[in-house]
Amino acid sequence: MKMKNRNNIKRIEVTLIITIMLVAVLAGCNSSNTEEDTKGGKNVNTPTIGLSFDSYIIERWERDRDVFVSTAKEMGAEINVQSANGDIETQISQIEYFIEKKVDVIVIVAIDADKLTDVVKKAKDAGIHVIAYDRLIRNANVDMYISFDNEQVGEMMGEEIASHKENKKVIMICGAPADNNVSMVNEGFETVMKKNNIQIIDKTFCEGWKAELAADYVKDHLDAVSAADAIMCGNDDIATNVIRMLAVYRKAGVIDIVGQDADLAACQHIVEGTQNITVYKPVEKLASEAAKYAVDMAKGNGIGAKPTINDGSYNVPYVALDPISVNKNNIDEIIIDSGFHSREDVYLNVAE
Ligand code: GAL
Repeated sequence: MKMKNRNNIKRIEVTLIITIMLVAVLAGCNSSNTEEDTKGGKNVNTPTIGLSFDSYIIERWERDRDVFVSTAKEMGAEINVQSANGDIETQISQIEYFIEKKVDVIVIVAIDADKLTDVVKKAKDAGIHVIAYDRLIRNANVDMYISFDNEQVGEMMGEEIASHKENKKVIMICGAPADNNVSMVNEGFETVMKKNNIQIIDKTFCEGWKAELAADYVKDHLDAVSAADAIMCGNDDIATNVIRMLAVYRKAGVIDIVGQDADLAACQHIVEGTQNITVYKPVEKLASEAAKYAVDMAKGNGIGAKPTINDGSYNVPYVALDPISVNKNNIDEIIIDSGFHSREDVYLNVAE
């Protein structure tokens, strides 16, 4: 009888141990599934980034995209890139898609600084970090705004115009009013105009950065254009459209023109003498720095102490890179030696 009891006890013990082991294994599987479920089926150790662009119409943005993606991938992150083709509702739904996919960080080139507050709040409430790339998103308390010193961009444009003492009257053909950078650039530019007693005889904007509106402006305001000594263009795409229209009226090279972005056409116009300067912004540096911050945030690392900028409601961390004023004297060093454009392309229309 004793032997039989002992065998029964043994059987119960073995059954108990197997049961405990089974529960432990199943719990283990569940927890890993749970972790994967919280990341939408992704490997929890892979940082995931959603990158939302306004559009690729302007030359620079494909360069921003390529450098950001390659830098983040080299750091082991997964990137999902979306372009809203200039439509704010599309951009909002693309950001909401990133929220549903439970990405770790969303990086946004805002189409409209005032229309992303709610969707950014939704992302942050879901525990997702948000970086405003190149353009500030207002009243959204983003985790970081990384751009160039946009007021300095405007100051450089103004200083070029003011350096020609004969310049007393200027027209401003600005970029999109919904782009917060435009007001920052204009702030810097108008400060320099005021300091040098240069009169702003007209100021207009190109909705959605539609540069063809600048060509229409020149065609429809020839009197004002003829009275101006200089035209400040919100970017090089606008400057190129203005120069092409001025050429129709044999005024290209007569009126001082300034822009920004170091687009190839603008660099060609600088060496050809129809554009004074472009403000070059090393977008590869911006994109790689932004990618590093994004991956670090995705890994739960802090960004360290940063200067801040007020977004209308909150003081947000602000990383501002330095722009560089480029004219015909330093274009070889800044643009060609850096590999931003080739000598062959820049001097395409200039006889050797
Ligand atoms: C602005 C940016 C400019 C230019 C523009 C589009 O936000 O500051 O550098 O890229 O978008 O051309």
